[in-house]
Amino acid sequence: NAMLQWQRTGFHFQPEKNWMNDPNGPVYYKGWYHLFYQYNPDSAIWGNKIAWGHAASRDLVRWRHLPVAMSPDQWYDINGVWSGSATVLPDGRIVMLYTGSTNASVQVQCLAFPTDPSDPLLINWTKYENNPVMYPPPGVGEKDFRDPTTAWFDGSDDTWRLIIGSKDDRHAGMVMTYKTKDFMEYELVHGLLHQVPGTGMWECIDLYPVGGVRGIDMTDAVAASSTNGGDDVLHVMKESSDDDRHDYYALGRYDGAKNTWTPLDSDADVGVGLRYDWGKFYASKTFYDPAKKRRVLWGWVGETDSERADVAKGWASLQSIPRTVVLDTKTGSNLLQWPVQEVETLRTNSTDLGRVTIDHGSVFPLSLHRATQLDIEASFRIDPLDIAATKEADIGYNCSTSGGAAGRGALGPFGLLVLADARHHGGDAERTAVYFYVARGLDGGLRTHFCHDETRSSRANDIVKRVVGNTVPVLNGEDLSVRVLVDHSIVESFAMEGRSTVTSRVYPTEAIYANAGVYLFNNATGAQVTATSLVVHEMDSSYNQAYMASM
Ligand code: FRU
Repeated sequence: NAMLQWQRTGFHFQPEKNWMNDPNGPVYYKGWYHLFYQYNPDSAIWGNKIAWGHAASRDLVRWRHLPVAMSPDQWYDINGVWSGSATVLPDGRIVMLYTGSTNASVQVQCLAFPTDPSDPLLINWTKYENNPVMYPPPGVGEKDFRDPTTAWFDGSDDTWRLIIGSKDDRHAGMVMTYKTKDFMEYELVHGLLHQVPGTGMWECIDLYPVGGVRGIDMTDAVAASSTNGGDDVLHVMKESSDDDRHDYYALGRYDGAKNTWTPLDSDADVGVGLRYDWGKFYASKTFYDPAKKRRVLWGWVGETDSERADVAKGWASLQSIPRTVVLDTKTGSNLLQWPVQEVETLRTNSTDLGRVTIDHGSVFPLSLHRATQLDIEASFRIDPLDIAATKEADIGYNCSTSGGAAGRGALGPFGLLVLADARHHGGDAERTAVYFYVARGLDGGLRTHFCHDETRSSRANDIVKRVVGNTVPVLNGEDLSVRVLVDHSIVESFAMEGRSTVTSRVYPTEAIYANAGVYLFNNATGAQVTATSLVVHEMDSSYNQAYMASM
């Protein structure tokens, strides 16, 4: 079926077939980036035989699929080789920790090593003979103990430390710390690293430094804070909330001696405040890339169509574009996420559409050669006279409930329609709207919302279609900017240099192949909007035949 075939992506990572969920154990080793992932080799649906799929790349963009790295074949992981993380030791060796679901469905932590450390592709893996190495401690549910993080070294007592997420019997999400000298024997560190009432099971937790002088690698940051008594480093804590299936993070301070992590702003604690992405994005994980000295984030982007459709197409799920993560030093209160620079090597035809002014209530078609794989960079400015003329407060705007791209206000919505039917744009023509909505508050100040409207993304009806998004910080004098990656069935947007991101899965039935187009739109009632810059890059496929042959 050509329509189902069309949904496969050109430059987002996905296995050749079958089900995928969380990214696992991302690591850089001997010139190769490795990505492991939760994989069901038998089906396009999750099941109790989850294995670790594996791929490797030289550039985080072009991937070589490799054999399954670990399968559920021991009593301690027979119900699934679940999520885990890699740690690189000072001598370059890799240790992998993962969660096994045992023959009694108890969650335990297990250790594995590369069988042949001289193999840069790390094809074969050996499970430690004395697995499992950690059992749920007293008071922790046997099904609430999973997803060990990367370990870091703490010189104060020469131990490696790592954390594991859980929940308590009153539904508080929580984090436990373990320490080890040899990765074989572990000791639970007294107390909880952190805990937030009402947030439920914390899956796939992550903890890493940002912003400090040496704040990218966790071991470096811990060493720096003990030697100079406090770098300006902050620590991001992230949890994947099993309750609502979103990834939440907060900025805070980690104190290894006290075994605590404290949010900078307790009102925006982990699980109740900031999210990595306001669309479909879950169970993410970062790793430190020593080659380019950066922190890179991967997130699982699931399907929003039906299981039946997934079985029909034979596959389910993508990984997000790998994103570099840094502290936003301009606001100091959020991260910036941005596609790794290597993504730009896929840009082919670039069209600079210059400056375009869009009158209120109008739509402007972009003339492009091919619009199914795109990297769009756009900046918008509302006419300052129109802003000044808008005196009335426009409160209570919410992406999800305020009418989407069709709900008109004085200063929005405006932005882009992608995977939009290039033949006509009216009525129920397929399109996904990527837009800003600016609202004047009671105090006279402006608030900017950044949203995706999926409600007209497909004519098919077995699909979850929503309007998603949130407010995004905009500082004085800044244009409203967005970068949008369009790749067949995914639209992944980075607003305001990555202060906010929104990812949508969309399944057009008509706006496909040559019928897919892009429009600018301005649905504001009273504002003229200018696209102050607009560049559209067509994107090559990363599964390029010539490249694959050369590897
Ligand atoms: C998150 C998760 C993890 C678990 C894995 C199982 O999506 O539920 O907590 O390790 O997936 O596939």
